[in-house]
Amino acid sequence: MKILIVNGPNLNLLGVREPQMYGKESFENYLDTLQKTFPNTHIEYYQSNQEGDLINKIHEYGFSDFGIILNAGAYTHTSIALADAIAAVEAPVIEVHISNVFKREHFRHHSFLSPVCRGVICGFGLDSYRLAVQALVNQ
Ligand code: DQA
Repeated sequence: MKILIVNGPNLNLLGVREPQMYGKESFENYLDTLQKTFPNTHIEYYQSNQEGDLINKIHEYGFSDFGIILNAGAYTHTSIALADAIAAVEAPVIEVHISNVFKREHFRHHSFLSPVCRGVICGFGLDSYRLAVQALVNQ
């Protein structure tokens, strides 16, 4: 199994950004743990703060044998273009959020991405990514 994890805007600041909400661990550090948890799974990671870059990456991997785990950050709640990119590709895409977006502001309750994703995992901190990897490995 090959998996691409894509993180969107502001997620490069994990560990520093609002630690009470998103935790104190950097994603790079967590990625190391995640890879050790799934030694037989090839995991790649990409982060960008630019909507177009995220779309290009989904196009690039979306017709390969990769499964995609996507935390699109705030673009989740705004980006029809990202939803169109997910719908356009063949790879399964799992939407992930670190926080439970349904416990938060109303504008975070709507996702343009959920209807075109294989499934959604949110609210388990960084462990949301492990659950998403497990879901892709299981299928
Ligand atoms: C987030 C939730 C989004 O609402 C927010 O804009 C983020 C992070 C999460 O992982 O909890 O940037 O996707």
